[in-house]
Amino acid sequence: MVTGGARLAGEVPVTGAKNSVLKLMAAALLAEGRSRLTAVPAIFDVPVMAQLLERLGCDVLLEPGAVSIDVPAVPGHEADYDLVRRIRGSIAVLGPLLARCGEAKVALPGGDAIGSRPLDMHIGGLVKLGATVDIEHGYVVARARRLVGTQLWLDFPSVGATETLLMAAVLAEGTTTLDNAAREPEIVDLCTMLQQMGAQLEGVGSSTLVVEGVEGLRPTAHETVPDRIVAGTWAIGAVMTQGDVRVRGGRADHLATPLDKLVQTGAVVDVEPDGFRVRMDRRPTAVDLVTLPYPGFPTDLQPMFLALDSVAEGTAMATENVFESRWMYVDELRRLGADVRTDGHHAVVRGRARLSGAPVRAHDIRAGAGLVLAGLVADGVTELSDVHHVDRGYEGFVESLVALGADVRRETVADEPY
Ligand code: UD1
Repeated sequence: MVTGGARLAGEVPVTGAKNSVLKLMAAALLAEGRSRLTAVPAIFDVPVMAQLLERLGCDVLLEPGAVSIDVPAVPGHEADYDLVRRIRGSIAVLGPLLARCGEAKVALPGGDAIGSRPLDMHIGGLVKLGATVDIEHGYVVARARRLVGTQLWLDFPSVGATETLLMAAVLAEGTTTLDNAAREPEIVDLCTMLQQMGAQLEGVGSSTLVVEGVEGLRPTAHETVPDRIVAGTWAIGAVMTQGDVRVRGGRADHLATPLDKLVQTGAVVDVEPDGFRVRMDRRPTAVDLVTLPYPGFPTDLQPMFLALDSVAEGTAMATENVFESRWMYVDELRRLGADVRTDGHHAVVRGRARLSGAPVRAHDIRAGAGLVLAGLVADGVTELSDVHHVDRGYEGFVESLVALGADVRRETVADEPY
């Protein structure tokens, strides 16, 4: 329940990235023994991934802010649908299991609310590395005695496919070159962990990754990269509510494009030793955006920025290039009075001085966060249902909002993340 009107002011901490930690947990499978991850966010996806690893025979210990994963000499190789369907990120076990066990059977995750997400690039790359891959009874079944390095090229710099192929190639025989690889900070984070485990990688952070396969890897300790999408959410919230927020632990260098957009709306952004500060003292000016793979504007911040544009001065056009169905939440935003028209990849937003509170529903994590931000600048009360989506990506979202001065409360009690 969000009562609009407050400005966000104060300091908010940012912990490790959801989109990194799930892949780092999967990467632990690549080495026998205990790996430990820190800056682990208390979000729902982490215990689900932990359960999945436990079913593969790992001993997983979740502590506040950390997870340690003890991987047996021979892990299981089957990831069941009941867990995979709950978090799409679990497909990240496919590459490591195939590389470690010579066989992997992972349920196809199925569709979700932001668009169809096929695995053709994951599978095509594994086949080029020498695997046989079949789809059987809703599972991807991949087999290869040992993968063999080769030249790979992605049609699109897919985050997931880059991760799968990277984690498969580190234990392959010989050299793999992956061109048009994704360059997201979460990929760099994964590369850093793999290097600490003994993987031989070059080109980290660039769109060409060169992997020299090794015989075996060792477990490691690694700190998860801060969540740039959570940090960006707070930055956008500060601007929308004409507030002043210090995002502690946020990496401004990972948010160059969105923070530049916020400056274009009229905000002041200061980089500080332990994060950054975003201030706004007037109604924002509408700003266009185009989502693209990193370092372009992140698709995961598109719903929040559209919420901002819906209360900005002027008209803006948002173009979505990453997920084709990422406008599903726009009907909900319209229920709050936003003037948004979508056509194919584009949305045109005419800014209104104020929105008006209404019951709305969260379709996915980011849409939910965008609707909460919209509720902060709406008259009256916005009641958001299906908030469990938001809990998948934001640690203590309501508590942080309240600490920043927002009038938000949770009506139903959520399960404890751990
Ligand atoms: C990850 C993030 C997600 C983010 C997205 C883009 C996780 C858990 N999720 O998702 O929050 O929005 O990156 O930054 O890290 N595609 C194919 N074939 C494939 C693979 C992808 O067509 O084999 C398409 C997808 O349908 C989508 C586009 O490529 O249209 C980008 O997808 P991808 O970068 O792979 O996103 P995810 O890894 O699924």
